[in-house]
Amino acid sequence: METIVRTKVKDLLACEPGKDVLAKGWVRTKRGNKNVAFIALNDGSTINNIQIVVDKTAFAEDLLAKITTGACICVTGALVESVGSGQAVEIQAKEIEVYGECDPMRFPLQKKDTSFEYLRTVAHMRMRTNTFGAVMRIRNQMAFAIHEYFHSKGFVYLHTPIITESDCEGAGQMFQVTTLDLEQPLPRNKKGAVDYGKDFFGKQTSLTVSGQLEGELGATALGEIYTFGPTFRAENSNTPRHLAEFWMIEPEMAFYDIKDNMDLAEDFIKYLVQYALDNCYDDIKFLNDRYDSELLERLQGVTGTEFVRLEYTEGIRILEQAVKDGVQFEYPVYWGVDLQSEHERYLVEKHFRRPVILTGYPKEIKAFYMKQNEDGKTVRAMDVLFPKIGEIIGGSEREASLEKLEKRIDELKMSRNNLEWYIDTRRFGSCPHSGFGLGFERLLLFVTGMSNIRDVIPFPRTPKNAEF
Ligand code: 4AD
Ligand code: MG
Repeated sequence: METIVRTKVKDLLACEPGKDVLAKGWVRTKRGNKNVAFIALNDGSTINNIQIVVDKTAFAEDLLAKITTGACICVTGALVESVGSGQAVEIQAKEIEVYGECDPMRFPLQKKDTSFEYLRTVAHMRMRTNTFGAVMRIRNQMAFAIHEYFHSKGFVYLHTPIITESDCEGAGQMFQVTTLDLEQPLPRNKKGAVDYGKDFFGKQTSLTVSGQLEGELGATALGEIYTFGPTFRAENSNTPRHLAEFWMIEPEMAFYDIKDNMDLAEDFIKYLVQYALDNCYDDIKFLNDRYDSELLERLQGVTGTEFVRLEYTEGIRILEQAVKDGVQFEYPVYWGVDLQSEHERYLVEKHFRRPVILTGYPKEIKAFYMKQNEDGKTVRAMDVLFPKIGEIIGGSEREASLEKLEKRIDELKMSRNNLEWYIDTRRFGSCPHSGFGLGFERLLLFVTGMSNIRDVIPFPRTPKNAEF
């Protein structure tokens, strides 16, 4: 007899009926009557299940009893046209093997408690649910789309380090990396400070908050690069938009000014959202119908509209006017303030009803490396603000002048010592260049319509939480 190879459920559902097939997966549901059982089988390849029709008289009772929700089975049978509505084809079972039973009494997913919070505690089941299966498939497609986008534009994928000695954002939110024994008295120098010369790298190191600084070295040699990797921030903010470990995409381009940078950011995001609509439609439609009936509309809206481009100063004027008109914000609004997500969302959702790229921020609230404007007060920063999310991208044109960069580093009382390797890019063949960082999970919040960032990453890390 010819051996049959396994076909994934996604492909089975697109097959013409009329041949024997082999399917493997986990039982979503089993229902039926005295004579027939209907099993909904899913293997993670699609949100859709394949229906297995079982003639109960042809199988042993104890085998059928083992086929419960959550069990893993292997089925051989004839792929036939389905008489029921909802699917084109189904499998008429000929042989069934139970790979792994799933005790219905101890099954962790009872119908009553499937809140996202609870699911985070049952890691082995979480991704087997419809919702997280959909989110993880979309996450995968988006990662692929990101590489495809930059690859097609000739950008070089540059691997920047995870362990670093420099704090790119200068915000002091780094996780220290050390092999010093914290249970023992630490080695000290003459001044009484910890002697990192005795540490693994011979200096104080941390997990990176951004690959940008190393990325700038890549861009000023290779032209256009991007990084895509995990980044770490020990910011103690327990919000639905912050993770302690998140993934960031950071393109960095020689010879781009701030306008080129904005154009790229807008084109990039539109490409990704369109890619999701084209390649993840079933999963997005599921999330739309289940949780967020405006999701599809919001995604289509973004691909079709031009983003607003607005100066920070003008943004503040609009917000101040809103306050005068009776809008209440939790945090105050005035020129110089770092905008809160409530302010960003007001501009995007209420005032413009479109994504907004805000530029020309006060230099005091932005990082040292941003190009300074002639007014002496603002820098060529750009934040892309999105509905429901607020800031999804942060970027800037970079300060190309050695003199201005060094002056700014000194003003901010940062140590030049461990930045000399970076400052060298301005000493030797400096060039205008720009870049930005897209928070991968913020993008996924937008594309999936999920409301908590913990629910778009397989294993979320947040303050007081690093399980699994
Ligand atoms: O605005 P940020 O801090 O910019 C940078 O790190 C620059 N070095 C990027 C660059 O120019 N190459 O972070 C960039 C983006 C934010 O807009 C946000 O989407 C995301 O990273 N982000 C976070 N996402 C999840 N959890 C956090 N704690 C995040 N912090 C920033
Ligand atoms: Mg930012």
